[in-house]
Amino acid sequence: MLYMNKVNSCLLVVFTAAATLVFNACKKDGEDSTTPTVNGVYPAVDEAFGPVINLNNLENYALQGRPQYINADNSGTNPITDKGATLGRILFYDKKLSINNTVSCASCHKQSHAFGDDALQSIGVNGLTGRHGMRLVNARFSQEARFFWDERAATLEAQSTQPIQDHKEMGYSGQNGDPGISDLIVKLQSIDYYKELFTFVYGDENITEDRMQKALAQFIRSIQSFDSRFDAGMAQVNNVNQNFPNFSAVENEGKRLFLAPPPGAPGGNGMLGVGAGCQACHRAPTFDIDPNSRNNGVVGVIGFPGSIDITNTRSPSLRNLVNNSGIPNGQFMHDGSITTLAGVVDHYNAITVVPGNTNLDPRLRPGGQGQNLQLTQPQKDAIVAFLTTLAGTDVYSNKKWSDPFQ
Ligand code: HEC
Ligand code: HEC
Repeated sequence: MLYMNKVNSCLLVVFTAAATLVFNACKKDGEDSTTPTVNGVYPAVDEAFGPVINLNNLENYALQGRPQYINADNSGTNPITDKGATLGRILFYDKKLSINNTVSCASCHKQSHAFGDDALQSIGVNGLTGRHGMRLVNARFSQEARFFWDERAATLEAQSTQPIQDHKEMGYSGQNGDPGISDLIVKLQSIDYYKELFTFVYGDENITEDRMQKALAQFIRSIQSFDSRFDAGMAQVNNVNQNFPNFSAVENEGKRLFLAPPPGAPGGNGMLGVGAGCQACHRAPTFDIDPNSRNNGVVGVIGFPGSIDITNTRSPSLRNLVNNSGIPNGQFMHDGSITTLAGVVDHYNAITVVPGNTNLDPRLRPGGQGQNLQLTQPQKDAIVAFLTTLAGTDVYSNKKWSDPFQ
């Protein structure tokens, strides 16, 4: 406590005197804490994070480059700032946001897996999640502004504190004896680095759910990936329908199949094998989901064979389904029921309409029947080859999105 008192008195001086004088004034205390630090007036941030978080030289989150062909942006009234995203990064990786200090957002959203989870069901403080985790790459660049597989969160901001208030995930549900988010806020307000960080970002140390949401959403929206082979090709021809010079013939054929409407669809010419129609819902070049999509025929419930869930109408961007070695970043679909890209293509090639699935997208049941594309094996392989070109490199290793606690 003595330490903090001294620091606070130094902090006070900062606002009234020149920085150099402050350093001298602090040094005269003869305390260890007076050693010049990375952050100067933010000693608790220094102590917790060392040089990993340098508030005088923030990582670039706000002004990251992106290709000119990427236009969608769901930031709304919460544009990314370097300060806000830095706070968001710390919140995202902080296990103290869970009831027993064991689970952070990053426990289930792993950078090594494009911020998804390789486990079928993610492990929270009170058991397993009911749905498979979602990758969080390029969440910003989608027209669909609702989040979760079933789109139950109206915005990313609203989404971002729901895991905290989920009994199974992080435990501050406020129900059945669980403490609630206001208890978490009291807990965070007693942590010195949050006093400094909220002051740094918002001007005072007051923590609110709204401020947490803004910071978390800014960090998540900052996670972007545009260094795939697909992007290299787009940069060369600037027209997604043209063959990419850097693609193999098979990859170009896969791209064509992905983009072209299926037989019978508007724009299709009625011939079998024209296209696979993926573009209608997963729109290149962002590969975000069509906001009007209904479900895609995958209706399983993990652990409850025979039960169906027809509410899942959102997919994360199809970028980074696999990493740049071609290894899946986790199972696919809300129920994780498909484990390979070949399995994904097989699903769309011949969709089974499960009884009771009244929410199957009409585009996938032409004439009332489940879609049957009759793709040949080489065509299926080509679509898989194309999907693997959507993997980037930077997102898996860039330290600005990494764990600041190590
Ligand atoms: C225990 C594991 C777990 C934890 C902890 C967790 N998540 Fe998730 N996350 C999931 C699962 C599972 C889903 C999909 C759930 C669903 O749709 O019902 C998901 C979905 C999301 C989505 C929606 C993505 C999209 O494209 O719609 C976002 C954003 C997200 N999580 C952010 C966070 C944040 C922020 C935190 C920390 C405050 C967090 N998650 C903590 C497992 C977890
Ligand atoms: C009518 C809209 C629609 C069409 C057409 C469509 N999809 Fe989907 N796709 C979805 C929806 C909705 C989901 C989320 C489904 C779920 O998990 O329940 C999804 C999920 C996926 C996933 C899993 C994503 C993840 O993160 O796990 C992949 C991969 C995928 N689709 C690829 C394709 C391919 C390849 C095609 C073309 C052959 C295609 N989709 C056509 C709507 C569509």
